[in-house]
Amino acid sequence: MRFDVLTLFPEIFSGYLRESILAKSIEKKLVDVQLHNFRDWTKDKHHKIDDRPYGGGPGMIMMVEPVVNAVESVWDSTEQLGFDKRQLILLSPTGERLDQKLVEELATCDQLALMCGRYEGFDNRVNEILQPREVSIGDYILNGGETAAMVLIDSVIRLLPGVLGDEQSGIDDSFSSGNRWLEHPQYTRPPEFRGHSVPEILTSGNHQAIAAWRTQKSAEITKQRRKDLLDRDSDQTNDD
Ligand code: 6GU
Repeated sequence: MRFDVLTLFPEIFSGYLRESILAKSIEKKLVDVQLHNFRDWTKDKHHKIDDRPYGGGPGMIMMVEPVVNAVESVWDSTEQLGFDKRQLILLSPTGERLDQKLVEELATCDQLALMCGRYEGFDNRVNEILQPREVSIGDYILNGGETAAMVLIDSVIRLLPGVLGDEQSGIDDSFSSGNRWLEHPQYTRPPEFRGHSVPEILTSGNHQAIAAWRTQKSAEITKQRRKDLLDRDSDQTNDD
């Protein structure tokens, strides 16, 4: 899967790209992330990318011309790469909310172009002309779309075949379709620490009893902490 990230701050991504699962996926050629700097499409000598909002107000707005030129250039130049299913996404707090259902949908794409805004956002003509899908990662305001883009990439790639090891799988995760249960607690060695013991059943070797315990803990935790998960989506399998 190919990601094209458009940003004023490509360096924000470099640490993340070099670490762990994403770095391995890139090495295995399962994922390709290309970074593009909006500023490379400015034409004036000061490389001006933002300006004050018409009508007044705080902050600066990213200008329509360099942004549209950047996105069109990246979009058109990757056309010949032959990706069938491509989506242009603008990370914005006014977008549709990213949840596991949307993550699963995006994971079926071959190419995602991600536009990250800074300042008070983009001139609205960017949206009118490019008509990107707007995605938000939650009801709070970030300083820019970059961390949201990383959240999106992170959540999508773990669903791609081969990205997680064989022993792991994103399919059964909490929030994946058909699963509304939060994870049960997990323990590893040592068996006792500062008076806190690992539940005996987990060291019993009785796999059936362990599975039953885990199901019960998942149910308890979900009911306690996230009753909303059980109340919503009545079209999904209801096994409580
Ligand atoms: Cl995608 N961008 C910004 N700036 N803030 C956000 C967001 C995105 N999603 C939630 N808050």
